[in-house]
Amino acid sequence: MFDVSKIRAQFPILSREINRHPLVYLDNASTTQKPQSVIDAMNDFYTTHNANIHRGIYTLSEEATEMYEGSRHAVAEWIGARSEEIVFTKNATEAINLFVQSWGDTHVGPGDEVLVTELEHHANLVPWQELCRRKSAHLKVVPIREDGTISCKDVEVFLTPRVKVLAITGMSNVLGTITPLKEIIASAHRNGTVVIVDGAQLLAHTAVSVVSLDCDALVFSFHKLFGPTGVGVLYAKKEILAAMPPVVYGGDMIEVVEQYRAHYREAPWRFEAGTPNISGVAGVIPAIEFIKKISRDGSHEYCSSLSAYARAALESIDGVKIFGPLDASLSGPIISFSFAGIHPHDIATIFDAEGIAVRSGAHCAHPLMRKLGVLATTRISLQCYNTREEIDRVCSALEKARVLLAK
Ligand SMILES: Cc1ncc(COP(=O)(O)O)c(C=O)c1O
Repeated sequence: MFDVSKIRAQFPILSREINRHPLVYLDNASTTQKPQSVIDAMNDFYTTHNANIHRGIYTLSEEATEMYEGSRHAVAEWIGARSEEIVFTKNATEAINLFVQSWGDTHVGPGDEVLVTELEHHANLVPWQELCRRKSAHLKVVPIREDGTISCKDVEVFLTPRVKVLAITGMSNVLGTITPLKEIIASAHRNGTVVIVDGAQLLAHTAVSVVSLDCDALVFSFHKLFGPTGVGVLYAKKEILAAMPPVVYGGDMIEVVEQYRAHYREAPWRFEAGTPNISGVAGVIPAIEFIKKISRDGSHEYCSSLSAYARAALESIDGVKIFGPLDASLSGPIISFSFAGIHPHDIATIFDAEGIAVRSGAHCAHPLMRKLGVLATTRISLQCYNTREEIDRVCSALEKARVLLAK
């Protein structure tokens, strides 16, 4: 049974006060808060197991290596992949850049096309722009519909034989839009197009199996999944990773080094040069365990219902305009809105004085903002520890903003 008070009790930061008000944390799409189990695991690593991995022939190093490789295994199992298909990176951004610089640079050539959508975060846009510039390839963009959605048919219009790769988000960090990935991936594959999915938001709200999705690659960041900052993942199918050259060179990614050339280890280790974020990876297993437990208890249903409550509450306020899908079933618990001509930064400032943390700005999605015809929005993004009372506090704070600032 889903019990929000029991969930909240696991997050020490939620008992904080901000500006003499109990904290209301609604910037979960940016990063989630961390449960005690994740904090403890990282502390425990430094307190009792700290050593470098893969190198030492001594107990501490072996323990650290076991934890690190065990975490890789847990990530693989969680998304239905094989351990050797999981590359640890710094974050989702680095994972996309790795894929672009390795797979992209070897597979995309002059005149080829790279397909993205209008929903993409800069992390899944700018690396592709740069690739196209380097390779004299063309970047094509699938537009969103009026309601902020994208259908498979919209993508199919762009699927010409020249499209080598489709890079698509599973859930928009601005509108919450959920894309029909399975259908789109099947269609892209019929066209011979490789698909990389930006799962940065999707995995926080949906169980994902790479086998069932059949995506060729998937990226995400653990800091958006109750885990530590500094740990991201690139999943790619074994045969794809095997054909990808390394892009960062140095220690730990080599098999043998001669004076004038080197032989590299197999994937995934050849993509993990240097000392990785070992203590961060120590937080991965407790983060996955936490997600599995809350999912079993009904967190996805809880967040959907909370999101529907928040949408209805915001919509009932005069002057609020919500961007994105009207049909709540087409979006995750991420809500962007404008209010009464007040700048989102002013709203966020007034909210902060009430102890409420929300994101205001362009959300690393400038082209999407332009499409929506705004410079910025206010965004609330929900997680399993948020409550209806917190949404009510947002609504009261908006009324305060109206009194103070509306023209
Ligand atoms: C959809 C999406 N993709 C990619 C990213 C980049 O994630 P990170 O900053 O962890 O690399 C974000 C971050 O907000 C995001 O929302």
